[in-house]
Amino acid sequence: MGKVYDKLKRCQESVREKINFKPKVALVLGSGLGDFAKKIKVEAELDYHEIEGFPVSTVAGHKGRFVFGFVGEIPVVCMQGRVHYYEGYTMTDVVLPIRLMKCMGAEILFLTNAAGGIAQGMRAGDLMMITGQISSFVPSPLIGENIEELGTRFPDMSGIYDKELQKMICKAAMDFEIELKQGVYLQTTGPQYESPEEIALFRTLGADAVGMSTACEAIAARHMGMRVAGISCISNLAAGISPEPLSHEDVKKAADLAAPRFQKLVYETIRRTGER
Ligand code: HPA
Repeated sequence: MGKVYDKLKRCQESVREKINFKPKVALVLGSGLGDFAKKIKVEAELDYHEIEGFPVSTVAGHKGRFVFGFVGEIPVVCMQGRVHYYEGYTMTDVVLPIRLMKCMGAEILFLTNAAGGIAQGMRAGDLMMITGQISSFVPSPLIGENIEELGTRFPDMSGIYDKELQKMICKAAMDFEIELKQGVYLQTTGPQYESPEEIALFRTLGADAVGMSTACEAIAARHMGMRVAGISCISNLAAGISPEPLSHEDVKKAADLAAPRFQKLVYETIRRTGER
């Protein structure tokens, strides 16, 4: 057994010893959704620290835990806190939690994040459903020996974001009168924000929003055959699009402002995954 798979199995065993819960949906909580766990009917929580070998965030004071519970009738596992490539983890460690949630039983992955808006007309506080992605600026999480137990060596990435889930997100947005943009997400390694020249380049490549997570997680999930959905909270206009310099504080503030709409949209979409 390869090292990466070995570590995954040890994490799975460690979780199984503590918690008996089979989620249908895995939800990664980005900025603006930090409080989402308060909306669900919580059954159990598990600190990342309690899972043997699990990558724990280096950012001081960052909460890191799985929250298990129900959104309506749907059993979900939420990741409150994720690790990023810029923290120094390998890509395989960055996506380990995604693989672990699939091993727990999750069939659907719901990714959320804060991102910088590139497309014309984008404003801070907007929500953008991710329709496609560009991951060419970060290493693939699938580099290394292929884990046959998870998926094939050369997985297809032509429809990463599930069309059916996209329809459900749009419908929920309409029903609750939540304005929703759509577009392509581009991942950079960070941690620095982009230069205006890089943003000009990304725009010519077809990117509508930019951030430092998500695309690698979506790749790992598709490799395993999960159905993937993603929503970005546009927390700021990307560098050079707005005259203001970027600050982490402003990014957090805008994400908090969008939080109620963001939470509602994600909650309703997940609740409806049981209706098919
Ligand atoms: N760039 C990259 N990542 C981000 C941004 C941005 O402008 N805003 C929030 N995350």
